[in-house]
Amino acid sequence: MINTIRLMKDDVIRITGPARVEVKEGKLLVAGAIYVPGEFFIVHRFRSYSVMALEEAMINAVLGKGAEVARTSLEEEVIGKWLSLAKEIISDYRKTRRARILVVGPIESGKTSVAAFIANYFLQGGVEPVLIEADIGQEDLAVPGTIASKKVRKKFLWQRELGFESLRFVGCITPSKCGEKVIASAIDLINKEDPSEPLIINTDGWVNTQAALLHKLELVRWIRPTHIIVTDIGTYELLRNALRTYKVLYAEPPKNKVIRDREIRRQLRKESYLKYFAKGSVRSLDLATINLMNSSVFAGKPLKPDEVGKLLPCFRSEGIRVLYASIYKEYLNMVIVERSQSLMECLTNKESTFRLKVFVPQDFVGCLVGLVNEDGVDVGVGRILGIHFSANSVNISILTPYEGAIRGLIASQIKLKDDFQEVRGDMVCGL
Ligand SMILES: Nc1ncnc2c1ncn2[C@@H]1O[C@H](COP(=O)(O)OP(=O)(O)O)[C@@H](O)[C@H]1O
Ligand SMILES: [Mg+2]
Repeated sequence: MINTIRLMKDDVIRITGPARVEVKEGKLLVAGAIYVPGEFFIVHRFRSYSVMALEEAMINAVLGKGAEVARTSLEEEVIGKWLSLAKEIISDYRKTRRARILVVGPIESGKTSVAAFIANYFLQGGVEPVLIEADIGQEDLAVPGTIASKKVRKKFLWQRELGFESLRFVGCITPSKCGEKVIASAIDLINKEDPSEPLIINTDGWVNTQAALLHKLELVRWIRPTHIIVTDIGTYELLRNALRTYKVLYAEPPKNKVIRDREIRRQLRKESYLKYFAKGSVRSLDLATINLMNSSVFAGKPLKPDEVGKLLPCFRSEGIRVLYASIYKEYLNMVIVERSQSLMECLTNKESTFRLKVFVPQDFVGCLVGLVNEDGVDVGVGRILGIHFSANSVNISILTPYEGAIRGLIASQIKLKDDFQEVRGDMVCGL
């Protein structure tokens, strides 16, 4: 169904996707970008945007299932306030040639949208900014579990349209469990960029506890932003209290937004994995030639099967087939052909001084790994398809769209089923 909508100057409408909107006449402001006749934009099914007519305009909107166009006003919407904010930041940038903007706020508070708004507004002013997406749970440039960067050369509504140029693999989607890695990864990407180029860094929505806010302060400490944009009044007040000489600005969150619950966010992550791995091919890696990060099982001192038998006599008597074993400090790691009742008894009866970690090959299938190139730089993500053991080697096969040389693997705590849905729970992947 095509809807033709006429707008007077300063009229505001709110469009909820899925929708394709074509400008027929006039000029529109959406997500900080200006659209003119002949141009169109797409609103994704889980997103909504306010659109403001900068002059008298006419649009054709093709609406999908559940889509909606509602007439609203500048008072009701945040677009006018975000525009003032963007103007202030750009004016500061023109004076100082420095803009390092950190966006902070709870989940679903408009962080991604305000980051897009400012990026587009810079572009509109003839400056190409760099976006760094450091929200590991809703990473829209690359895949969840990574932090990615991208120079913005064309206007966009949603970061997912852009893709990424560089990424760093964090290997976790829960910021409370991997805060240091988030900071290190963000800083590493920031340091690649020219300090005179504007940089917009989006962060995760973990702000509801003391630990969460202290983590955000730690990010500020290392990133040293010129502007901190906060999309929640309580968080804004606390950050402003702590950061007395920083420029902390409040960006009001959108009021009438699409409600995306936990399940929809999971679905959005699945779509992101699917898109990334769609262009993947299968690669086989001999672990003997690979640097192993965040892994203990395959980085330990290998043991021969008879050595395992000496350490754990019951293994010998039960005739359990050991595919691989290693010692890594206090741990004895083992990969066996299959788990069995007799094995469990052997383990519970053990009188060894070691802590035991026991796997079957299937345990590794679906786990994500970060991929590192010859220069030690993260370049992609792989999903483990299988691990193959022979007397003297371990081969790992992965699915990945990355085609260059792989010299390192980074183990993670993210595991995907064959349909790319995440396996729930902590510690789902050992490696
Ligand atoms: N101006 C707006 N009016 C209504 N909804 C909006 C507006 N801007 C963004 N939204 C919607 O609000 C929701 C949350 O925004 P998002 O930027 O993704 O938040 P966050 O990154 O903090 O999780 C999204 O569905 C988005 O489409
Ligand atoms: Mg977001």
